[in-house]
Amino acid sequence: MEKIVSLCKRRGFIFQSSEIYGGINGFWDYGPLGAELKRNVKELWWKSMTKMREDIVGLDASIIMHPTVWKASGHLDTFADPMVDCLLTKKRFRADQIEPQSGVAYFWSGAKDEASSKESSEPFSALLAPGKPAESARKVAIQFYTQRGLQNVALLGERTEKIENTTQYNPENGALLTEPRMFNLMFKSHAGPVESDENVVYLRPETAQAIFVQFKNVLETSRQKVPFGIAQIGKAFRNEINPRNYTFRSREFEQMELEFFIKPDDVVEKQCGTVATLSENGAPTDPPQANWGWEVWHSYWVEQRMRWYESIGLSRDTLEQYWQKKEELAHYARACVDILYKFPFGTQELEGIAARGNFDLTQHQTHSGKSMEYFDQEASAKYVPHVIEPSAGVDRLLLALICNAYDEEEVTDEKGKMEVRTVMRFHPRVAPIKVGVFPLLRNKPALVEKALEVRDLLRPFMNVFYDDGGAIGRRYRRQDEAGTPFGVTIDFDTIGENGSALEGTVTLRFRDSMKQERVKISDLLSILLPQVQ
Ligand code: GAP
Repeated sequence: MEKIVSLCKRRGFIFQSSEIYGGINGFWDYGPLGAELKRNVKELWWKSMTKMREDIVGLDASIIMHPTVWKASGHLDTFADPMVDCLLTKKRFRADQIEPQSGVAYFWSGAKDEASSKESSEPFSALLAPGKPAESARKVAIQFYTQRGLQNVALLGERTEKIENTTQYNPENGALLTEPRMFNLMFKSHAGPVESDENVVYLRPETAQAIFVQFKNVLETSRQKVPFGIAQIGKAFRNEINPRNYTFRSREFEQMELEFFIKPDDVVEKQCGTVATLSENGAPTDPPQANWGWEVWHSYWVEQRMRWYESIGLSRDTLEQYWQKKEELAHYARACVDILYKFPFGTQELEGIAARGNFDLTQHQTHSGKSMEYFDQEASAKYVPHVIEPSAGVDRLLLALICNAYDEEEVTDEKGKMEVRTVMRFHPRVAPIKVGVFPLLRNKPALVEKALEVRDLLRPFMNVFYDDGGAIGRRYRRQDEAGTPFGVTIDFDTIGENGSALEGTVTLRFRDSMKQERVKISDLLSILLPQVQ
């Protein structure tokens, strides 16, 4: 990860937010290459969801919504993590993320100041890790009582106890932690000039709720029929207690969410006579069938999402599926599959695909008093649709793509010396820059003129980077680090200086193999376009 983080900063993929002020924990900025990568990923998701399908339409809703939305969704009451604070440093941890520790726990009933005979009767405890001297636990306790105003601290009522697998102590210093308290992860603000309880608003912690809230408007204006979906990409905010693993767990991030509304199984049965069950011959694929129940639709979406990840360069062997167990599911959920990526810091979630029944629409119907029912003409039935929700994080996916692309290999340079080539092997579809255009020499006007012509030919169709600085080998390496899949070099053959046979041709270099081919300028677009789109 260290190498990846360093490359991301050096090449302008990801910067720490507000870096010149020391940064702000849990917030990140995407630099020039990162911004392009992110746009490509979002565009490809949007294209696969809305443009390549008849049955999904888009939405772009506001980040701040009526606060009752979050009451109805359950976020106000239950979107919370247990947190604990270190009694010594006040550092905050997520209680469920503390690794269990064993050792000897030291307890004190209080302490007194030997100089002033001032006393503190506040009890304190510290955990002594195996192999450490007892004094180190006492040192922690002395610091604790010093913070409470005592000077020459004498610890009182010391006793010890062997403890196994406890999560009550700060793993960094052994000091006791507070009891867990629930901490709501939603960022709060106020709409309007008055800061009062009446105008509290929340930054959305997921984009999904806007889709449910606008279900009826979209249905009525898009002329869709159930089954159909609403897709949205947008920012979400969670005041994570411990943002960590680079951009993996951030406080501001983007989601790509689809709510795919389906008929309840009893309606499918009424209409088709039966409800299809899962086949043993693999996941269901296109075209969807009228007799699919929620289980088949859910599996279908898991497979669609796996295929999409493959199409942008994450092969199946880099991914895993985790099917949540019954006892892990939210009370309204029927099934949930996490698609995980094997990050260098562990195999972790990229996307969750949940079958949520009709919980969300029903909740909004109850809290708003507005009907969320749909009249299904084909089935002659009225119902609140059920939903399958594939919900992916843009930032996590970017991190996965960056980790997946990073490679180092030993190569021989032009002078025959071995060197390490760092190369980002992005799939051409997501690569921030698609092609580098290089005149062999910058001080030959005929080469430069031709290279600019090639740049202008390709530019309307793909992201081109023109570079005339330094030795050609160095320019190739710079583009290798940026992950640019193709390089086009304009040389003396191109401008006909070595005869007319190769005039109008360029060398096309392939990033991964480093092989070069001579191709006609007039063929460039037809060679490159199908690979980058
Ligand atoms: N509407 C369902 C929902 O929001 P989630 O599992 O909480 O489900 C969906 O979030 C996706 O959003 C996750 O799989 C992850 O990719 C992304 N995500 C969630 N919290 C995140 C965070 N703190 N930082 C970055 N991405 C996050």
